[in-house]
Amino acid sequence: MRTEDLIHFCAPARLIIGNGARHQLPQLLARLGYRSGVLVTDAFFAEKTPWVNEYTQAAERLGISTIVYAGGLPDPTTDLCDEATTVLRKQLGGKQLDHVIALGGGSNIDLAKALSLTLPQGQPITAFTGDIGGCKPLPMIALPTTSGTGSEATPGAILLDPANATKIAVMDNALRPHIALIDPEFTYTCPPRVTADAGIDAFTHAIESFLTLDSALFDRAGNPDPGYSGRSPLTMLFAKESLRLCFDWMERAYQHGEDTEARVGMAYASIYAALSYGTAGLNAGHGIAYAVAGQTHKSHGSTNAVMLPYVLDALCHTRQSELAEIAGLMGLATSCPEESARKVPVEVRAMIGRLDIPTDLRAFGIQEQMLEALVTDALAVTRLVKAFPVADAALAYRQIVQSAWEGRLSGQP
Ligand SMILES: NC(=O)c1ccc[n+]([C@@H]2O[C@H](COP(=O)([O-])OP(=O)(O)OC[C@H]3O[C@@H](n4cnc5c(N)ncnc54)[C@H](O)[C@@H]3O)[C@@H](O)[C@H]2O)c1
Repeated sequence: MRTEDLIHFCAPARLIIGNGARHQLPQLLARLGYRSGVLVTDAFFAEKTPWVNEYTQAAERLGISTIVYAGGLPDPTTDLCDEATTVLRKQLGGKQLDHVIALGGGSNIDLAKALSLTLPQGQPITAFTGDIGGCKPLPMIALPTTSGTGSEATPGAILLDPANATKIAVMDNALRPHIALIDPEFTYTCPPRVTADAGIDAFTHAIESFLTLDSALFDRAGNPDPGYSGRSPLTMLFAKESLRLCFDWMERAYQHGEDTEARVGMAYASIYAALSYGTAGLNAGHGIAYAVAGQTHKSHGSTNAVMLPYVLDALCHTRQSELAEIAGLMGLATSCPEESARKVPVEVRAMIGRLDIPTDLRAFGIQEQMLEALVTDALAVTRLVKAFPVADAALAYRQIVQSAWEGRLSGQP
């Protein structure tokens, strides 16, 4: 508790977690009165797993009809969303829907969130960029299969705009899924690369939100229902537990995907990270990573990972005690908080290397002449810049990008 905190905590209305929890879904939806839905997924789940048929047949027996859309793709575009809207509305032939289900990683969940807005009236998704204008999306049920983006608990859908190769966000608390059902068994089939990229995404969510701006200082831009509103002891509880689970299980899940305890551990790490960042928000790590993704088109998790150690290094003064606390979780703490804090970025970078992700921008394929554009693009995402808890964020961004290119950390031996 801190007397100055201003908490505006948002989470899915129902959070269901457990191996095999997917089998409860048809009965739960029937009890809630749902009758007609679309299930958004991709070819892998429709063709290589029993989960889609299992669900639709059990739901049908309870009087719930479901149209399956299996055209999901990694990093969905606004065009894909608009095409899916047209195809599905034609298939529905004027029939009203009362829910949308997403089965898949962050990509399928974000596509389903976008469709929950576009399917009722058929507008293009760009009509909702920035502000959804009071529109009521269809209730969403998210079944994540990666651990993970945490999109099952957040207010945003991220889509790639092919017109200018940038990602756009559609954001509102109304887009938070009504039900987030986390069945860790869904993640058992994740290949190692997807496991590592998704795992480091969850880890970045936890650590970035643990260190972000306090709720009392957060600029809500006058919004009475902000999606993100800064960290508080409540968000930090979830972040810290997520970090502990990541240290225990992330590398194990990557190296031994058959280890079900590691898979379950990372499923919890992912949703706990989302319960932190889904209210506290993020800052420079994601802000600069979006710019790196714009230039390299590499995965969301790996672009976060390459920046993370250098962002943490830039916080060694303003977030020294928190970083020293994290050093304690990692078994690195000494009697000197400053020394403990400086060890964290160095060890986090080593961990990222063990996940076979490049650990500096040069190795990531960024050339020195691209650095200025990276800084400019990253600073353009002002909502993330404002949440970076340092005195001069623009200067810090510049130094972070330079250090990340040179692979320089203040605590390295
Ligand atoms: N809305 C949000 O709050 C939010 C937050 C973070 C990231 N994102 C978005 O999430 C996307 C990344 O999501 P992701 O990392 O979950 O990956 P993903 O959804 O893009 O999936 C990557 C690949 O892994 C496959 N896959 C997923 N689960 C699998 C499983 N259990 N078994 C086998 N294959 C599986 C998918 O079919 C796909 O081919 C990005 O587009 C990013 O922008 C959104």
